[in-house]
This record gives sequence, C-alpha cells and structure tokens, in this order.
Amino acid sequence: MAKKSFPGNTALSPLPVVMVSCCRTGEKPNIITVAWTGIINSHPAKTYVSIRPERYSHDIIKETGEFVINLTSSELTRKCDSCGVYTGKKVDKFKKYNLTPEYPENNEVSCPMIGESPISLCCKVDRIIPLGSHDMFIADIVGVYVDEKLIDENDRISYEKASLISYVHGGYFAMGKKLGTFGYSVAKKKKK
Ligand SMILES: Cc1cc2nc3c(=O)[nH]c(=O)nc-3n(C[C@H](O)[C@H](O)[C@H](O)COP(=O)(O)O)c2cc1C
Repeated sequence: MAKKSFPGNTALSPLPVVMVSCCRTGEKPNIITVAWTGIINSHPAKTYVSIRPERYSHDIIKETGEFVINLTSSELTRKCDSCGVYTGKKVDKFKKYNLTPEYPENNEVSCPMIGESPISLCCKVDRIIPLGSHDMFIADIVGVYVDEKLIDENDRISYEKASLISYVHGGYFAMGKKLGTFGYSVAKKKKK
C-alpha cells in the first residue's frame, strides 16, 4: 500500500464521544462534550478525560474530583454537539437541552448522570496530568448505570441496542455492521 506521510497529529479514529457531567455543591450541574477519552486499565477499572484548562468544567472536576461519563446514543447526537459548543459559564445545559439530572442510587459520586444517556460511568479522579493543551484526568470508574432495557436475561449489556455513536475527525457516526466477536477468528467451528 502506498502511504503519504503527515506530521504527527490526532489522527487516531474512531473515538467515543461522550457527555461528561459534573457539579459543584450548590451550583447548577454542567455537561461538557469530550472526545479525548478512553479506558486505560482493567483492574481497577480506570478511564481518562482530557480537558482544556479554560473550560468551565475543568475547574469543577478539579475541585470536586468527580464526574460522570455519559455515553452518547444516536438520539442524543445533536444535544451532545450543542454541549460541546456552548459553555456552562453562560448556559444551563441540562435545562436548555431538556436533559434530566439523575443522581446515582448508590451515591458513588455526588454529581448527576444524564437520565437520557443509555450508559453512565461514575468516576473519581485519581490524578491529573498536565500535557500541554489539555489536562488529563485519570479516574477510577466507581459505578456504572445502564438503562434496564439494554440488559439481557444473563445480566449482560446489549450494546447493539444502545445505538452508540463514534467520532471520526469532526464527524459523528452511527455504529455500523457487527463484524465479529472477541476471539471469533480463532474459535473452533461448531460441528453440525
Ligand atoms: C465533538 C466534540 C468533542 C470535544 N472534545 C473535547 C475534549 O476532548 N476536551 C475538551 O477540553 N473539549 C472538548 N470539546 C469542547 C468542549 O466540549 C466545549 O468547549 C464546551 O463548550 C465546554 O463546555 P464548558 O465550558 O461548559 O465546560 C469538544 C467539543 C465537541 C463538539
């Protein structure tokens, strides 16, 4: 394959695009859209979000040490985009976009999840690493809340039903066709 070279950049794709909720005590909760996110450890379950220091949410998360990663469904795409354009300094995004703040039943964190998101991950900040343009908030995932309609009879999450979206260099994409499952390439074929 003939490949053209480019200087190093953020070409990694696809990425999740998530709606991160956060809240200072006594203030309105806020939402920031984040694409610089991922899983970085299995046990304990750890994630990160990288946030520019100038964002309104940055100081809230730094001060409270808590946030919720709310996964984005196709239906939430437009609201996800809007939460990534307007700042909570000026707008109450929960109210403006008709999103419901729901507090985790087991009080893992004191900030609300987004009720309309199919899957929400409650996170507690472990450390903050300044990287340049962004600060990386490494966090423990201390609780996960899933829309009951997505849970099958074996208590597994049916991700296919969640209609999650991904982000590719400025574009939002719906999930495509399922191509296989973990290990399918080496699994033995069942005898007929
Ligand atoms: C698709 C998308 C992805 C974004 N990803 C990030 C990100 O990873 N980190 C970040 O600091 N800002 C990111 N932003 C920008 C913030 O979401 C945006 O500046 C937002 O208005 C900040 O809200 P706040 O000021 O209420 O915290 C993204 C915006 C969009 C639309």
